[in-house]
Amino acid sequence: MAAPSIAMDSNHQHNYKLNKTEKKFLRKQIKAKHTLLRHEGIETVSYATQNLVVANGGLGNGVSRKQLLPVLEKCGLVDALLMPPNKPYSFARYKNTEESKRAYVTLNGKEIVDDLGQKIILYLNFVEKAQWKELGSQALPPGLMVIEEIISSEDEKMLLESVDWTEGTDNQNFQKSLKHRRVKHFGYEFHYESNNVDKDEPLPGGLPDICNSILEKWVKEGYIKHKPDQLTINQYEPGHGIPAHIDTHSAFEDEIVSLSLGSEIVMDFKHPDGVTVPVMLPRRSLLVMTGESRYLWTHGITPRKFDTVQASEDHKSGIITSDVGDLTLSKRGVRTSFTFRKVRQTPCNCSYPLVCDSQRKETPPSFPENDKEASQLEQEHVHQVYEEIARHFSSTRHSPWPRVVEFLKALPSGSTVADIGCGNGKYLGINKELYMIGCDRSQNLVDICREKHFQAFVCDALAVPVRSGSCDACISIAVIHHFATAFLQ
Ligand SMILES: C[S@@+](CC[C@H](N)C(=O)[O-])C[C@H]1O[C@@H](n2cnc3c(N)ncnc32)[C@H](O)[C@@H]1O
Ligand SMILES: [Zn+2]
Repeated sequence: MAAPSIAMDSNHQHNYKLNKTEKKFLRKQIKAKHTLLRHEGIETVSYATQNLVVANGGLGNGVSRKQLLPVLEKCGLVDALLMPPNKPYSFARYKNTEESKRAYVTLNGKEIVDDLGQKIILYLNFVEKAQWKELGSQALPPGLMVIEEIISSEDEKMLLESVDWTEGTDNQNFQKSLKHRRVKHFGYEFHYESNNVDKDEPLPGGLPDICNSILEKWVKEGYIKHKPDQLTINQYEPGHGIPAHIDTHSAFEDEIVSLSLGSEIVMDFKHPDGVTVPVMLPRRSLLVMTGESRYLWTHGITPRKFDTVQASEDHKSGIITSDVGDLTLSKRGVRTSFTFRKVRQTPCNCSYPLVCDSQRKETPPSFPENDKEASQLEQEHVHQVYEEIARHFSSTRHSPWPRVVEFLKALPSGSTVADIGCGNGKYLGINKELYMIGCDRSQNLVDICREKHFQAFVCDALAVPVRSGSCDACISIAVIHHFATAFLQ
């Protein structure tokens, strides 16, 4: 639906008599403008240029180049369409201002259907330049390597067929059906509660024979330095992911390698400074993490059904952001990864003591003297802890408290309900008649909620960004005792 009377210059709005729908569009368009500036540093201008930023028309919200381009081309010749990875907007440059004005007028408020069949409304604003620059590094994290086509299609098939996912086999004890993905361990079992292995209890049978010969070949050919003795097989369906993590230093040696089978996937590497590098792991490739990329950067897979990838065929691997004009969406398939690690027998003495569990100095907490100290104490002993134990915590939090269930079931259907400090979202699905939204300080717990398709976001319970009066009810269960201060510091 078009909103033709949206003015070119918002200062002149009062010259128009806008109807209700038009007012709504205008509000949303202005909101899009503010969001772009505040969160992305993109400045829109109030006069017409050849260039437009298309809010909601981005790879980050499921819109592909194939869908967006024809819509834009209805208004004129599109010179360039830049689609930054994982961003919910894109940039279009038209041949001339006549055409960009036409797009501005006819496409603002236009509804399109994304790759998953969901409706999306576009909001357009003029910008000086159709350009986008990635903040931060474009290079792969130091110590990281992706070796393409490390194995043949025949070996891939053989490895995939060698994994027996049926329950009740000998391996049953070591196979866990984590809600988000299927996992199997060989050599040593990996304990998710402690994020470590029991070094004194190797599993009988060691690594599968078929892996042994492949590993020996990799050592001989110099791809890896040491032969691993632990294997974790993960199977990810489209939409599954794994929260960002660093493999426990004290558990494994420097070199960690992961073989991707069945389907490609994008893995996000994140430096503690906040720089994120999405790395494409093609099918049959080997990811080798050593040094900084293994010890300091986190890695994880965002649970989603599509990845942003290079559109052209000759860009199959490496960093995704090198040519923004050439990105599109790729639908995920079932990916099976074989991650090989070598169990560490002596403490880690890496050069990253801040993230090294072997080098962490334990000082007993002292009673805080002021709010700042109290808040630090809370950060270290509450937030950091929940973040680290999220998976295990979640697996232990099944049974809801009956009085809370009673409360939620008694609410009128259609009520909007907030759950502050929602943890793994235990209460978010209790009453399907409610619109529930959860929030929690722990990103990993929020990720778990999202994997369950609940609405959840990260925030501190002392500063909840929900408008007053917008909810009919609110719960906050087993949270308040964690506060160390009365106000957010
Ligand atoms: C014991 S759990 C309870 C989770 C959930 N309400 C339940 O009943 O299963 C406490 C939760 O509060 C969260 N939390 C602690 N302090 C918080 C804060 N200041 N803001 C938001 N969440 C907080 C933790 O991350 C954790 O998920
Ligand atoms: Zn270390």
